Amino acid sequence: MPDSDPPAPPRRRNVVLVGFMGAGKSSIARLVARALGFEGVDTDDLVVGAARMPIHRIFRTQGEEAFRDLETAALLSLAGREHLVVSTGGGIVLREENRKHLRATGFTVWLSATVEATYERVRHNTARPLLRVPDPRATIAEMMAARAPLYRETADLHIDTSQLSMDDIAYGVTESARHAFSR
Ligand code: S3P
Repeated sequence: MPDSDPPAPPRRRNVVLVGFMGAGKSSIARLVARALGFEGVDTDDLVVGAARMPIHRIFRTQGEEAFRDLETAALLSLAGREHLVVSTGGGIVLREENRKHLRATGFTVWLSATVEATYERVRHNTARPLLRVPDPRATIAEMMAARAPLYRETADLHIDTSQLSMDDIAYGVTESARHAFSR
């Protein structure tokens, strides 16, 4: 018998949103949750609740790896639940273990935006420690290029949000999820 991975656990009736910082995951998750009658959950919020401190302070006092451990624990805490729309932190796809769990959690959608649109959305927000750098535009471009294959490998569907309204994006996610759940 050749070595092979065990079969993936069955996919559940949840919607999972992945993508880079500033892609609109949280806002879209709220709209999709309302449309489907599902509960919205945000892995960043779960991490903040567990650590009882804001993300930038977790990074500063405990480091990125500690944040990533909390993020993985947050994702695992959703195992077995259904009827959720899960909005995730942009770096959740960095760990292979997380990518596997994301796929098993539900119908997964990658929301992408251009470097410029992302920069415009995040430039006035200081809550993201990884973008507190001298040249955030260059950092966004580098990180986005490095992560794109990971988002692609994780997601069932990719939506380029550049030319779309929030309502259009939410509609696309909602109807695609309905279709996936009906199969
Ligand atoms: C991160 C994205 C953030 C948050 C943390 C790290 C990343 O979430 O999890 O600052 O590595 O891209 P958002 O994508 O919701 O901003």
